[in-house]
Amino acid sequence: MTLNKTMKLLLAGVAVTLSTSAAMAQTNLRVFVSSQHRPDVWRKAFDMYEAKNPNVKVTIETGGNTSEAQAQYLNTVMTAKDSSLDVMILDVIRPAQYAAAGWTVPFNDVLGDANAAMKRYLPAYAEANTVDGKVVALPAFADAMFLYYRKDLLEKHGVQPPQTWDELAAAAKKVTAAEKDANLQGLSFQGKAIEGAVCTFLLPYWSMGKQLVSDGKLSFDKDAAVKSLKLWKDFVDQGVAKKNIAEVATDDTRKEFQAGNVLFAVNWSYAWGQFQGGESAVKDKVGVVKLPAVQGGQPASCLGGWEWGVSAYSNNKTEAQKLVQYLSSPETSEFMAINASLLPQFPDVYTDQDVTKAVPWFASARPVVETAKARPVTPRYNEVSDIIRTTVNAVLAGQSTPEEGATQMEGRLRRVLR
Ligand code: GLC
Repeated sequence: MTLNKTMKLLLAGVAVTLSTSAAMAQTNLRVFVSSQHRPDVWRKAFDMYEAKNPNVKVTIETGGNTSEAQAQYLNTVMTAKDSSLDVMILDVIRPAQYAAAGWTVPFNDVLGDANAAMKRYLPAYAEANTVDGKVVALPAFADAMFLYYRKDLLEKHGVQPPQTWDELAAAAKKVTAAEKDANLQGLSFQGKAIEGAVCTFLLPYWSMGKQLVSDGKLSFDKDAAVKSLKLWKDFVDQGVAKKNIAEVATDDTRKEFQAGNVLFAVNWSYAWGQFQGGESAVKDKVGVVKLPAVQGGQPASCLGGWEWGVSAYSNNKTEAQKLVQYLSSPETSEFMAINASLLPQFPDVYTDQDVTKAVPWFASARPVVETAKARPVTPRYNEVSDIIRTTVNAVLAGQSTPEEGATQMEGRLRRVLR
């Protein structure tokens, strides 16, 4: 046997040993993904990771179609100290709460200089994921609320995108009256008692220049609260929004707009990708602008976003953290922006050429995200959220007047936030 051949055989042996040990060291990671945020596109990102890391297999789990339904499911898993989930996507309002419960593993040891690593992200997300110096989760994507509108219908009726809610009501009345389409709603927004309804309430409230919490204390402005609840209820009473808006969750707004049945919609960035998809009735007919303001106020958006946390009960923490670092990288952010219209958590990705080619309005979305307001940060956020969303829902369902709603909201909030 020539030396060359011997070498080849030896090397083949090495290769066999290596692949056997690689097969033995296979890690299965189970990742919870929010069902409304394109698990099909995340799957492609996982496929790319698996291709580079043949020892890792990723399985996706989803459940619940709203933020709080998903949180409820995760709370059950975490309370049971269940090790079956390794990685979970968390709404931006939750990492601090998960960290306080000891449910997530900090990333500080794997980040090197954690401060420098977090400085790469938009500041709001570095902040939301850092608790007492510990990086408790890494940003998956940014989010904010926008006004979607039917470009084709506004153009047809010579109407400009509205800058105030009053202008929106007038535009909606004009276009729906002229279209005479019984299925066409003027405006869709979130009136169901879901997390999104907290933002529904806060949008006009913030637009009036009011804060809910300042210096950690409740700074409830009752007059502004009444006006905010009344603004939404008036849309229903005037026929601008549909009568059963109290049953509408975020993805219902998305689906109804996508089916061509809505003129204006308040929604988050993910909706755009779906509107442009193959099954959409409104492809190439959609415009996006910042949300209207109240008369005499400033436009305000609600800060959203989702974060990747590694479960404290995972048996694969090291591999899970490596996967999350890949998921929270500029490359994955760019991929998700292009393919799922999820807003980048990195400032520079907004103006990346491939991103602006795929989602032209992202170039002007960055200032909206940067000035979007955060929901109150408090350890008792779940109660705060519950109070606000059930009140919004009761007012829209006609069970309380805006005045009654604001009074109840204030009383209940005072018991939680002093
Ligand atoms: C979006 C936001 C999230 C928010 C939720 C409310 O998913 O990103 O932060 O809580 O909508 O429905």
